[in-house]
Amino acid sequence: MSTPIVAPATLAHEHTGETSMRKAARCAMVILGAGGDLTRRKLMPALAHLACDGFMDPESIIIGVGRDNFTDESWRAAMGEALKTSDEMQGADAGAVTKFLGMLRFVRGDLRATETYKSITERVTQFEGGADDDDHIGRLIYLAIPPSLYADAAKRVSESGLVPRTVRDDKKWARIVIEKPFGRDLDSARSLDKLLLSLFSEQQIYRIDHYLGKETVQNILVLRFANSIFEPVWNRNYVHHVQITAAETVGVEHRASYYEESGVIRDMFQNHLMQLLTLTAMEPPNAFDADAVRGEKAKVLGSIHPVAPEDAADISIIGQYGPGEVNGEHVISYRDEPGVAKESRVPTYAAIRFTVDNWRWHGVPFFLRSGKRLAKHATEIAVQFKEPPHSLFRLPNGESLERNVLVMRIQPDEGISLRFEVKTPGVDVRMAPVRMVFNYADAYGTSNHPAYETLLLDCMLGDATLFARWDEVEASWRIIDPIIEGWKNPNLVKLPNYTSGTWGPSAADAFVAKDGAVWREP
Ligand code: BG6
Repeated sequence: MSTPIVAPATLAHEHTGETSMRKAARCAMVILGAGGDLTRRKLMPALAHLACDGFMDPESIIIGVGRDNFTDESWRAAMGEALKTSDEMQGADAGAVTKFLGMLRFVRGDLRATETYKSITERVTQFEGGADDDDHIGRLIYLAIPPSLYADAAKRVSESGLVPRTVRDDKKWARIVIEKPFGRDLDSARSLDKLLLSLFSEQQIYRIDHYLGKETVQNILVLRFANSIFEPVWNRNYVHHVQITAAETVGVEHRASYYEESGVIRDMFQNHLMQLLTLTAMEPPNAFDADAVRGEKAKVLGSIHPVAPEDAADISIIGQYGPGEVNGEHVISYRDEPGVAKESRVPTYAAIRFTVDNWRWHGVPFFLRSGKRLAKHATEIAVQFKEPPHSLFRLPNGESLERNVLVMRIQPDEGISLRFEVKTPGVDVRMAPVRMVFNYADAYGTSNHPAYETLLLDCMLGDATLFARWDEVEASWRIIDPIIEGWKNPNLVKLPNYTSGTWGPSAADAFVAKDGAVWREP
């Protein structure tokens, strides 16, 4: 283990980009599925932040829609309680939160009934009543509902006239936000997209992936493209391999019915991890805007060639957690979790080796892994550089120099570190690896801006840079589908195959060792 050596001070001035001055126009946000967890745990704190920090027009309204027995008043009270218990709201100004709660409205209704959409439309048009032709005013419809309802809800939103199809955003905009998973395979994703494009234009569709709103994920682009020292070594000449890890200590929690259908590959790889890969591997875009950035990301995905299902086991490892101990507590196996089938073969862990077949990355393995009930909660991207071509220094038998590693730590302890060798003090030339560390919390204090805050503001402003474009989603399914298909064969691996609280199946070690790599334990 190397020793951290530097906790840097930030330089005196900050380059404030346009983003710090962004403010959304007055809008009506409609949350379909407002009774769910997503609304309470993620959307409400994010919207409260936007309102309290002055990014949202105070005259905007947020209409929750669901079958729950709420009135405007009781929904405000329920959301007020939810915000009190949210980690993301610690230290929030109580007066500002009360004002925010005043923006909330509730429409009670079944999302499969036309009447419900009539009631929503009435409230939205009532809200827009005073606006004249020159006013900027918008509608943002958020589908916080199970994926099986997306198609039906989208049709009803369109039929009700809530989001009229427009090819260009103007002063009166209307947009629709769709949560992941976007489809459950390439075919279903294509059908969903076809349907959406028959109802709305691409500019009106926001496919949200909350990883893209994380501060440190956006920092990948800044690190790479606002500095000149990394780009020259960011390629096959210097990089040995890349490890992208999203490790969780939590189990399936209360989401068994969803997770049994998705498993870790659909839940984490098709979206979050592939997005991290594209940001790490993409070419510099010619501008920081939606078309340029997403165009480069899509090219990366286009350079990853899908394997045949029968080859899936050669480029991936899957696992499922058995019982074990996490954070000092005994935890049960996946198959014993409520709602999980006793013989379930759904993977809760996967490690996949991708190669990006282009000029920059040819031959460099990108190892992606994610799992539940692992030893530690940590998400990071580690770029491992090649060893020096020739060693000047004699090392004790059996020892070799450790690789230089640049780690972009996404969560927790957000930051960046670089590992390199130094001479240890003394008359002999002895070496030891050290880490130079930049830590966000030390430099700026803890960030209180949830990922959804950034993304919701972007939706309101019409900036789709941090949202997945259809060609990215499609390319990602094309790569992922055969891997899922390949692992359907029950003879390939016996599950469960890892103990909760460890770093996953032991086969994963031999898997990366073939390329001369060793998994990091972040
Ligand atoms: C979600 C997945 O998209 O991301 C969850 O459905 C997972 O299974 C979560 O736990 C991880 O997100 P984060 O932000 O905690 O890393």
